[in-house]
Amino acid sequence: MTQTEQSAGKIVILTGAGISAESGLGTFRDAAGLWAQHRIEDVATPEAFARNPALVHQFYNARRIQAAAAKPNAAHKALRHLTENWPGDVVLVTQNVDGLHEAAGTTDVIHMHGQLDQALCATCGHRWSAPMEMRVGEACPRCAQLTGRPDIVWFGEMPYHMEDIYGHLAQADIFAAIGTSGQVYPAAGFVEETQVAGALTVELNLEPSAVVSRFEETHFGPASATVPAWVDALLQEAGSS
Ligand code: APR
Repeated sequence: MTQTEQSAGKIVILTGAGISAESGLGTFRDAAGLWAQHRIEDVATPEAFARNPALVHQFYNARRIQAAAAKPNAAHKALRHLTENWPGDVVLVTQNVDGLHEAAGTTDVIHMHGQLDQALCATCGHRWSAPMEMRVGEACPRCAQLTGRPDIVWFGEMPYHMEDIYGHLAQADIFAAIGTSGQVYPAAGFVEETQVAGALTVELNLEPSAVVSRFEETHFGPASATVPAWVDALLQEAGSS
């Protein structure tokens, strides 16, 4: 890493459903959010899938179709611009299961809650590109068992890539949480990890999150406005906009 990159520091970003809201994808806990329309215990737990796989597939099929038709907004594009122009390291961790960061051109996105466009075999752990609509008894292309499921981390399951994520948080010089209510752990605890590491902590959200008191800097408003402004200011400061 060059001197400039070293001095520019490492930025770790966590995004939540709020960054995709202006792309037309529902958040979870806003007034008309997904958890106001569906009970978590009916569609987002391993027990729900065992009890009524058709209902769970129906829930994720609808979200997969909607996400596939959605377009990245100015906030997703601003984060891609940051990863391309920041002289140091930028790591993007998302709780979102849509592919809008990738659609905006960001690579190496860490999906800690899985991805709608992936299927997972509950028997052998094989992953494959999910069909737009998954069915009950989806056959695994590797082991042929009829145990395909959405590759989504359900409540009660361990989020993915946690070791990597904690390693990045420990090295963060700047930590930004964007579009997340700070109500679901372990993601809601990331800000504390980076505070311990001495990072500058920044919250960019429509309104104060449940963990807003842990952030040194806050920018409230729609992500399509706050994120591009924040990225421009960062790059200006680093002299590389
Ligand atoms: N711009 C910025 N923030 C927004 C916008 C917007 N246009 N619209 C909504 N928000 C904010 C809301 O104020 C809220 O604080 O985004 C946040 C979304 O919070 P949640 O709906 O709780 O979503 P999230 O924090 O991503 O949920 C975390 O919970 O249900 C699980 O696995 C699911 O990944 C999800 C996790």
